[in-house]
Amino acid sequence: MARRRKLYEGKAKVLYEGPEPGTLIQYFKDDATAFNNEKQGTITGKGVLNNRISEHLMTKLAEIGIPTHFVRRLNMREQLVREVEIIPVEIVVRNVAAGSIAKRFGIEEGTVLPRSIIEYYYKSDELGDPMVAEEHITAFGWATTQDIDDIIALSLRVNDFLTGLFIGVGLRLVDFKLEFGRYYTEDTLQIVLADEISPDNCRLWDVETNEKLDKDRFRRDLGGEREAYQEVARRLGVLPEA
Ligand code: C5P
Repeated sequence: MARRRKLYEGKAKVLYEGPEPGTLIQYFKDDATAFNNEKQGTITGKGVLNNRISEHLMTKLAEIGIPTHFVRRLNMREQLVREVEIIPVEIVVRNVAAGSIAKRFGIEEGTVLPRSIIEYYYKSDELGDPMVAEEHITAFGWATTQDIDDIIALSLRVNDFLTGLFIGVGLRLVDFKLEFGRYYTEDTLQIVLADEISPDNCRLWDVETNEKLDKDRFRRDLGGEREAYQEVARRLGVLPEA
């Protein structure tokens, strides 16, 4: 089959032109990076697992009325998605202190936060994704106040739903990162969840043992990355055939 035109290559995914106008093919790679590309590696089979996990989570979210870019999975590593204009802001939702918030404020990892916290980071590899405030987002025109209101409401619904879904399979959703995009239907603007939701951009801890089943295994040289991603897929009931 002739390869479709490559539109964008990121750290963990490639976007190709889709079969119909307004669609893209999202291809999941095995490449893993951390600390803004300073650490690079490969987790064999990660792309296949993340494709399945993200398909499952996006489908469940669509069932409760969260608009997403996901259309359908095409094969082991590819999914068809709606083409959207990505809002250049990463939304991080935190329930438990870990990673950068633990470091920044000197909070012990594992401390339950008094309430869920939403943070914004400007998507820029050159700048290392700096943290920004709503003021920057609106002043620099990355999104409007209305967009931000929609994004917050959607992110909190995603958090509530996924927290429950993961608890059901013995996993604590510590934190995660979301990306949103916009597309226009005739004259209305729709904000949709984009990118992926997988152990690459969520922290997931076993509820009994606190074992980390996410990309922190790679970031912190803990080993067993592939087994951790497989375990998440297995618990969600989407482990692909070997
Ligand atoms: O590193 P930090 O603690 O800020 O990460 C918070 C959450 O956001 C983690 O689940 C991490 O995997 C995710 N994240 C991400 N992409 C980034 C930064 C953070 O997926 N560029």
